[in-house]
Amino acid sequence: MSGIIGLPMDRSDYRDVVEDLYAAAAQTPQASLCCTTTPIWHLPDLDVPQAMLERNYGCGTTIHPRDLANADRALYVGVGAGMEVLQLSYFLRRKGAVVAIDKVPEMLETARSLLEEAATANAWFDPSFVDLREGDALLLPVDSESIDVAAQNCLFNIFTREHLDQALREVHRVLKPGGRFMLSDPVAERPMPSRLADDARLRAECLSGALTLGQYLEAIVAAGFGTIEIRARRPYRVLDKRRYGLDENLLLESIEAVAIKDPIPDDGPCIFTGRNVIYVGEDDQFDDGKGHLISRDIPLGVCDKTAAALQRLGRDDLVITQSTWHYPGDGCC
Ligand SMILES: C[S@@+](CC[C@H](N)C(=O)[O-])C[C@H]1O[C@@H](n2cnc3c(N)ncnc32)[C@H](O)[C@@H]1O
Repeated sequence: MSGIIGLPMDRSDYRDVVEDLYAAAAQTPQASLCCTTTPIWHLPDLDVPQAMLERNYGCGTTIHPRDLANADRALYVGVGAGMEVLQLSYFLRRKGAVVAIDKVPEMLETARSLLEEAATANAWFDPSFVDLREGDALLLPVDSESIDVAAQNCLFNIFTREHLDQALREVHRVLKPGGRFMLSDPVAERPMPSRLADDARLRAECLSGALTLGQYLEAIVAAGFGTIEIRARRPYRVLDKRRYGLDENLLLESIEAVAIKDPIPDDGPCIFTGRNVIYVGEDDQFDDGKGHLISRDIPLGVCDKTAAALQRLGRDDLVITQSTWHYPGDGCC
């Protein structure tokens, strides 16, 4: 049951606890694991089987249609019951277009049968669109530089930092240059106490493996991603002080992000959190001499690095807004 502090984590076997939990959750829906904070996509002619909805164990969505333009081959890591794989197929619609990996055979079997069921309710869908493979996020059975768009929803937060780094490097390896990685995970408002982080059951339930947002972004950059865009940030859970023996409640938020495999600039990664700059001066546009042409009165989305640099100019004709945590893309680094 969620919220009961479970087995202490032996660092060599927390993954056994994870696999046992999801083998059971494949067969019987676990309401406490259905933690998404993002409304389910309703799209024309897309009918998601009820049994998939009941086994939606993600914490946000990784389906961002704008990021799927021109995507030919997608990878989904940690398939679960297959809802997001079905949604990805909706956009790609081609045999073998979505390679879908899971480590738990029972989960793969559930996904296989629910994708068959989905084919009966969705005339556009054929199960051959999805190439289901048994495999581990830490050693993906996928060729290097073969994937346009990858996604994982609420799996990577379960990993210890060492395994997270390895899983991120694996996704980076299989993406083509310029490829995109959609992630959704919980993050914690302050570092997770080790007593909870070391609890294998809580970790498997996506409750105690969360990093702070800063640590999470740092891990993604360390794997080699040069650009990160935050698509959404929403309240997810509270680890309340009474139940979890904490001094203060600990808020968890669900983050949706897209990490792009482009080179990390010399002056650091471009991280977009929804900040904008608006020029309100005398001229038609403002040129900061560093590649940013800012038209008068038109908000321009900029990365946090550029927002900070423009702020340092101390000009009263540049208005720089705070992070919205909902950055749609297409700004200017
Ligand atoms: C929290 S669930 C999320 C499932 C799905 N992404 C969703 O949104 O419903 C984690 C999934 O990852 C799978 N999994 C666990 N460890 C894994 C690993 N090391 N490699 C690949 N998949 C793994 C589990 O079987 C489960 O399907």
